[in-house]
Amino acid sequence: MAKHITILPGDGIGTEIMTEAVKVLDALIAKGLDVTYEQKLFGGAAHDSTGSCLPEDTLEACRACDAILLGAIGGPVYDKLPRDERPERGLLKLRSTLELFSNLRPAMLFPQLADASSLKPELVAGLDLMILRELTGGIYFGEPRGISTDDSSGNERRGFNTMVYTESEITRIAHSAFRIAMQRGKRLCSVDKANVLEVSELWREIVTTIGAEYPEVELTHMYVDNAAMQLVREPKQFDVMVTSNLFGDILSDAAAMLTGSIGMLPSASLDVAGKGMYEPVHGSAPDIAGQGIANPLATILSLAMLLRYSFDEAASADRIEQAVAKVLDQGLRSADIAADGESVSTSAMGDAVVLALST
Ligand code: IPM
Ligand code: MG
Repeated sequence: MAKHITILPGDGIGTEIMTEAVKVLDALIAKGLDVTYEQKLFGGAAHDSTGSCLPEDTLEACRACDAILLGAIGGPVYDKLPRDERPERGLLKLRSTLELFSNLRPAMLFPQLADASSLKPELVAGLDLMILRELTGGIYFGEPRGISTDDSSGNERRGFNTMVYTESEITRIAHSAFRIAMQRGKRLCSVDKANVLEVSELWREIVTTIGAEYPEVELTHMYVDNAAMQLVREPKQFDVMVTSNLFGDILSDAAAMLTGSIGMLPSASLDVAGKGMYEPVHGSAPDIAGQGIANPLATILSLAMLLRYSFDEAASADRIEQAVAKVLDQGLRSADIAADGESVSTSAMGDAVVLALST
């Protein structure tokens, strides 16, 4: 039976980049890929027309499908909504409802784009690192949380969140991390703040215990402040990094920038069964939305990742990745990766990938 994708273009550049990813998907379907898809509203766009960022109909489609492809969500207009109605909350709800706890954020340098990094070329040449971010726990979801209005002092409010991990949450992300390390360079660095936080102390203890089941993997631990420094000092020392939700949010942006092209990086968020939501690492970029200059390649590569990891369609995934490499070899660059040279539009880039697929 055909596998089914729910497509969520979202906001900002999300709709523009998704149009290009759908062109690529259509081209593969035309060549025999047995996949169907359907678009649903999500984020600010959904709020505009239904009053909810994550309408029930969208959530249901995401539950029922085999995989989700997401563009990006959010924008300045929606920042004014009450906190619970904002697009970011919809995204967090989707992640937690579907239990997409394992977030793979690769940062690899495309050799064709070596000049785009802000680091010296020798520090990043050949960079290929995977950050595994825990996505459904930690301070993003911990209770209690809030802004108190009834402070006993009477004149000062208090904002608070709770960083919490249970043993089973740490155990399952640790297993994911060791398994990924086994498929790669067999080196895993667990990042925490165990010198200060009890939650990190438990994290470190459990990751170490699980490590005994993977004797081939070399496990190290690093405090998050040092990890941030090491990422910009000598990023190639890392193979796989595993960390909590908040630390992973921050470190994965830094790692993405090492490649000089956050517009190139896909990501996957998986549940225990391997069902996943795939999305570019970058956001909705409201500053350039609607101009037709966004880079669609991260979304197109997210589609490749979806086909590889959730649908076991390695051949189609390879074809997409090779087509992307080909357009880069041809010298095509969107504005974000053009350095000072000439750039092509979002749709021209998508068309070029489609063309490269069939040549
Ligand atoms: C990300 C984003 C989200 C996060 C926001 C949009 C809620 O920054 O996916 O990294 O913080 O997880
Ligand atoms: Mg982020």
